[in-house]
Amino acid sequence: MKKLIDKLEKEKRLSFDEWKSIIVEFRKEKDKALPLFDNDSILSYASEKARKIRLENFGNKIYIRGLIEFTNYCKNDCYYCGLRKSNKDIERYRLDENIILKCCEKGYQLGFKTFVLQGGEDLYFNDDRMESIIKNIKKNFPDCALTLSVGEKSFETYEKWKNAGADRYLLRHETADKKHYSTLHPESMSFDNRMECLKNLKKLGYQTGCGIMVGSPFQTVECIVEDLMFMEKFQPEMVGIGPFLPQHSTPFCDKKGGSLEETLLLLSLVRIMLPKALLPSTTALGTVKEGGRELGILCGANVVMPNLSPLEFRENYLLYDNKICTGDEAAESLKSLEKNMKNIGYEIVKERGDSPFFKK
Ligand code: 5AD
Repeated sequence: MKKLIDKLEKEKRLSFDEWKSIIVEFRKEKDKALPLFDNDSILSYASEKARKIRLENFGNKIYIRGLIEFTNYCKNDCYYCGLRKSNKDIERYRLDENIILKCCEKGYQLGFKTFVLQGGEDLYFNDDRMESIIKNIKKNFPDCALTLSVGEKSFETYEKWKNAGADRYLLRHETADKKHYSTLHPESMSFDNRMECLKNLKKLGYQTGCGIMVGSPFQTVECIVEDLMFMEKFQPEMVGIGPFLPQHSTPFCDKKGGSLEETLLLLSLVRIMLPKALLPSTTALGTVKEGGRELGILCGANVVMPNLSPLEFRENYLLYDNKICTGDEAAESLKSLEKNMKNIGYEIVKERGDSPFFKK
């Protein structure tokens, strides 16, 4: 396996069977995967290489993104997500433009140079409303990058928002296997459209992020291999990888959550394959285990996304159960995040942190 990981480092790609054998072997030795250090496991080997590659490309810098969860309304009904429209157990909210700008202001004072507007697919935020928000954020904070994460839209809409000043877009593909996609989503949602959206975003010049949930229901080793091969082909600037976590009011409430170790392995492999990618150590990783986000950093991640949403709304933005939304997760606790990252040898920097392919 170590030879295959060396090959990945050199060639930045592997065949279907080669990828598959890494994951199959990893699963056999899962029990000895952690701790990461002083260990001859596949995870330990991959994470060491990932750290080295991350150091060569980004030093010990960690970029921060201020996450603003501005609406939990959603027209979609994804089986895994707590914001799905059929979930009647949550109180829905929207932040208006003024509140969003206030969140940015607070973030700016804390040193954030990227804001991420994330929300469900909420038709209230039509092209014009979004355009106004985008323009005003860019006008008030011209030295900041703006990332959107609001789902599938038409080419024209993405184009308008790009012209209004948006820099980046996150749209996890969720799975690169069409059949698997249809087990996670209702029929009204289409795999082809999601892939088309990702292509359009790239074409329009967004720094584009795809990504998956590790251990989502019905995910096979083959699905994961397809995800990795898709990423190799698509060459995203950003990749979001976090464990699937069940949410109690969704059809997947009884499904098993994704594994911490496998998430860490995939982070490491993606870092080795895409050395210049921006890889967040996700909130979901911090939720499966205390210190999970630090482990993500040690496996090659170089981004964290603290929450800038007003505290009173955070409990209603629960994609999954037990989501961390106080303490370290809160932007107010940036100091303690800084301390934790410093303890493992990394430094939070107050820069835009663009993709190296998009240096301004
Ligand atoms: N567990 C983990 N991640 C989830 N997401 C949505 N629901 C869950 C869940 N139950 C992820 C999806 C989505 C992103 C915003 O959050 O991958 O793209």
